[in-house]
Amino acid sequence: MKERRILGLKQFQKQRKRPEVLGQSIDQGAGSLFILVAGVFSNVAASYDTMNDFMSLGIHRLWKDHFVRSINPGSPDQAWKMLDIAGGTGDIAFRLLDHATNINSSPASTITISDINPAMLAEGKKRSLETAYANSPRLDFLVANAENLHTIPSNSIDLYTVAFGIRNFTDKDKALREAYRVLKPGGVFACLEFSGVTNPILDAVYKQWSFGAIPMIGQLVAGDRASYQYLVESIEKFPKQEEFKSMIQNAGFVVPGKGWEDLTFGIAAIHKGIKPIETKS
Ligand SMILES: C[S@@+](CC[C@H](N)C(=O)[O-])C[C@H]1O[C@@H](n2cnc3c(N)ncnc32)[C@H](O)[C@@H]1O
Repeated sequence: MKERRILGLKQFQKQRKRPEVLGQSIDQGAGSLFILVAGVFSNVAASYDTMNDFMSLGIHRLWKDHFVRSINPGSPDQAWKMLDIAGGTGDIAFRLLDHATNINSSPASTITISDINPAMLAEGKKRSLETAYANSPRLDFLVANAENLHTIPSNSIDLYTVAFGIRNFTDKDKALREAYRVLKPGGVFACLEFSGVTNPILDAVYKQWSFGAIPMIGQLVAGDRASYQYLVESIEKFPKQEEFKSMIQNAGFVVPGKGWEDLTFGIAAIHKGIKPIETKS
């Protein structure tokens, strides 16, 4: 099952030009948004990490560290099977493995980094060569559309993460249902995503920064204004905290506490959901 499910990097690089590999949903409606998103991330793949630092003034690293600490993955007596969706260049996945290994003494915990875009995964694979997990069975890569994870068995995953990815999905509810399907009962869905700034004055300043500066930085640093213009617009369109929490609940998850944690005045937020032990039939 594993060999069939997990594509090696060489294999997906060979398949890069095939549209059905860039996304299984190309023929399944909403194709133009899908192709646009694929194009954006192919364009930004090489400059993605540098651009993240410029755009967020380095704060995305603190958010990601906090996200992983809040999940506290791995345990000494049980290896976790983790899936990082829209994993891109591996920023979250490497942190999850480090935490499981070094903090929770869980050296057998594994992660699959999955992304729709082979170019982003290729950057992740390149970066993995500088980690302790290079070419180890603890880390593998899968090209897949989050809305259709048909190669991943139901009830097989302990932790599903998605960071700065879900706002790009064409059908977010479908992706949430897939997250629910692949998680084991008791498994955790954890999402880090841009969200809504609650203070109106700060929101105005933030919008000025994101719509004014980010496309310009994209032009200067990556030579690509249009892709970064798309990225800021996708942030603006993404459902705000309360609405996204309801979407997670509608997919079947139980939401702990308030349902989310705001980061930096709500510029980003962490949402979590638990798949109930007693699942609906
Ligand atoms: C902004 S990057 C985030 C990468 C990484 N998670 C991080 O936090 O640095 C968004 C990623 O979502 C991926 N993506 C977009 N639509 C997707 C989909 N339908 N299924 C899976 N991945 C998708 C893109 O290819 C891209 O790598």
